[in-house]
Amino acid sequence: MEILHVAAECYPYAKVGGLGDVVGALPKYQNQIGHIAKVVVPMHRTKFLYNNLWETVHKGSIILGVRQMEYTIIKEQTNKLGFDLYCVDIYGLTDRENVYSYADDADRYLSFQVAVVDWISHWEHQPDIVHVHDYHAGLIPFFMQHCYAYSALKNIKTILTIHNAQYQGQMSWDKATVFPAWDAWAWGKLDWKDLINPLASAVKCAWKVNTVSPSYMEEIRSNANGLENLFEYEKGKCTGIINGIDNAVWDPETDTYLKVNYDRAKVTMGKHQNKLELCTQFNLDPTKPLMIFIGRLVGEKAADILPETFKQAIYQFQGNVNFLVLGSGEKKVENELAALNTRFAGYYNAKIDYNEGLSHLMYAGADFILMPSRVEPCGLNQLYALRYGTLAMVRNTGGLKDTILDIGDNGYGFKFNEATVNDLLYTIGRGIDLFFNENDKMQEIREYIMQLDYSWESSAQRYIDLYNS
Ligand code: GLC
Repeated sequence: MEILHVAAECYPYAKVGGLGDVVGALPKYQNQIGHIAKVVVPMHRTKFLYNNLWETVHKGSIILGVRQMEYTIIKEQTNKLGFDLYCVDIYGLTDRENVYSYADDADRYLSFQVAVVDWISHWEHQPDIVHVHDYHAGLIPFFMQHCYAYSALKNIKTILTIHNAQYQGQMSWDKATVFPAWDAWAWGKLDWKDLINPLASAVKCAWKVNTVSPSYMEEIRSNANGLENLFEYEKGKCTGIINGIDNAVWDPETDTYLKVNYDRAKVTMGKHQNKLELCTQFNLDPTKPLMIFIGRLVGEKAADILPETFKQAIYQFQGNVNFLVLGSGEKKVENELAALNTRFAGYYNAKIDYNEGLSHLMYAGADFILMPSRVEPCGLNQLYALRYGTLAMVRNTGGLKDTILDIGDNGYGFKFNEATVNDLLYTIGRGIDLFFNENDKMQEIREYIMQLDYSWESSAQRYIDLYNS
């Protein structure tokens, strides 16, 4: 099968969160099992763009309302990522450093999507599957089915993967006037609550829809930022497929970001050495359990409960625990977390940043990872942690629910129900207890979780099965 993935992010070209990781890994493993998977993203001006070789494969033009725009498709020349990576350049719209957060994002992603559809309409053959990810590519199934100029693409199968249903890309109906001429009878395929809603449109138009875990699929029927009824109504074509991780990138035996590499047999030594390195860098105490948080500092991840939790934990457990945070996001949370650096020096440190390399060292050197997420469609951090022998403390939701089993149920992690300071504190207490009083058990669990298989090697096939269905 030939599959074209369309997304805003693709690691290592451009990554903001887990979406980038998935789009950068899944196609590689689809190719390895005998398919042809390609990826197209906007031509963000990232380091990867400037450090690699590209060739122009297509030039075209699209009309949005009164604007005619020229676009260029370039392709990475060496198949460096294990799949063909294409970027769409549109003068004045894609020439930015960041993936999101510009005032004209709606126009940027709208023209990106029209250009992608226009480009496919010029292919000599048709792909078997157009696989769109999240709302940034959500209008594509509609354009392929209802725009007159692209009617030749009508029967190409489309799949929508939802990595996050909170963000839907709503725009006012004025925008419809700049879409390539479309069949006005189909307006209901764009509309949700009197707005054009790209995510809702993709749920309606795509042949199949999936979320990145089965539990999240269940949850969005009652909690999806306004789309609950739609998911209930369309449940017949919806499934959940848990993400994998790229075992070639996330491998403590070969990871070049680590101080010391290790495998299951050397996990005690390996984690200890990496922990020493972290503790030296961040002025922490290696004899205490080290708990980390990595990720976007936003409400969805419940980052707002962290500052109070850390304060109370350090007092309540009399300093017998250390915390290290890496992330960026909402200014208020960033400031609160940074403010604790001086107050709790020696017990706590926060690096307000996005830092891929440091995150690898943290998975390796930490004892526990905290994930109190209010919403977690899949979550990859707990899967990276498992592979590096780090125990996960997770809220019982979405993909966290599906991948972590509590020690109390003969499992290998900790689960709690509410994203509250109390629930998290209680769980931190359980972790401290295990660390100091049941060290043998902790060692056993580390060895056990390192061999759990959440790789794309084993789950890439599930998407092929979905395409076949
Ligand atoms: C989004 C979700 C996260 C998921 C990732 C990849 O970032 O918030 O839970 O793991 O996408 O699918």
